[in-house]
Amino acid sequence: MNLNGNNILITGGSSGIGFEMAKQFIAAKNKVIITGRNMDRLENAKQKLGDVTIIQSDVSNPDSIKELYEQVLKEFPDLNVLINNAGVMSTINLQDHNLSANELTKEIDINVKGTIWMNDAFLPLLKKNKNAATVMVSSGLAFVPLPISPVYCATKAAAHSYTLSLRAQLKNSDVKVFELAPPATETEMLADFNEEDMKGISAMSVQAMVADFLKGLSKDKYEICPGQSSQMKFMSRYFPSFILKQMSKTVDRMHAN
Ligand SMILES: NC(=O)c1ccc[n+]([C@@H]2O[C@H](COP(=O)([O-])OP(=O)(O)OC[C@H]3O[C@@H](n4cnc5c(N)ncnc54)[C@H](OP(=O)(O)O)[C@@H]3O)[C@@H](O)[C@H]2O)c1
Repeated sequence: MNLNGNNILITGGSSGIGFEMAKQFIAAKNKVIITGRNMDRLENAKQKLGDVTIIQSDVSNPDSIKELYEQVLKEFPDLNVLINNAGVMSTINLQDHNLSANELTKEIDINVKGTIWMNDAFLPLLKKNKNAATVMVSSGLAFVPLPISPVYCATKAAAHSYTLSLRAQLKNSDVKVFELAPPATETEMLADFNEEDMKGISAMSVQAMVADFLKGLSKDKYEICPGQSSQMKFMSRYFPSFILKQMSKTVDRMHAN
């Protein structure tokens, strides 16, 4: 994929990985739109990024996606790249019954339904434009779960599986289907995890992770697994019980609380 001259929509671009993607794509001479739920955070991102379009939009709300699509169609009819990056992660004790039904599954609404709905809305436009691509941001945790975040990991496994099917179904179209499976990356998402949770895991800098992503895109590498993510995939395939046992250690801390 060409890394310049694109019109790129990044969901969840007000912080972390999405923000850094926007920064690196703008530097490479692409037109970038970022979305998020919170307008203050988007305006703050715009101040830092400069030449970016911000649109308030919630991927877990189909009406909000429809409004976003209509605005993009009007203002950016040449949109050729969609990056499904918006996501949330929670630790959930499955033995606790304190969460409401909506809270328990909100990660599914955002990480899975949001991605499927966004592709459904934007694929017809992507198909009309040259050099089109859609990107799913899954996780190294798509390959092996971190059991203290059970719903999150299930959403990322779903995103990985969905990407394989989408790629197969679009093989006769000109739309390329990429998956970025980041390893632990230094963003706000990891802020809730304490030192014990992160034992043995070295979080990658967001700048280096996104640089690996752009390199993978430029080489048309359809599944991009930077840093420890490729090890997670390898271990899950060849040593599944061992890696799951390692990843399950933090459950003891959760139950001790
Ligand atoms: N950081 C890691 O270690 C790591 C590892 C593997 C995969 N990932 C994945 O990478 C992606 C980005 O994560 P991050 O680490 O950059 O997290 P982050 O810093 O918390 O950023 C998440 C972004 O998503 C937006 N967002 C959340 N819910 C949304 C919704 N319903 N609609 C639209 N935007 C929404 C947030 O803005 P608002 O809150 O204002 O909406 C924010 O801009 C996620 O899919 C995550 O699962 C992260």
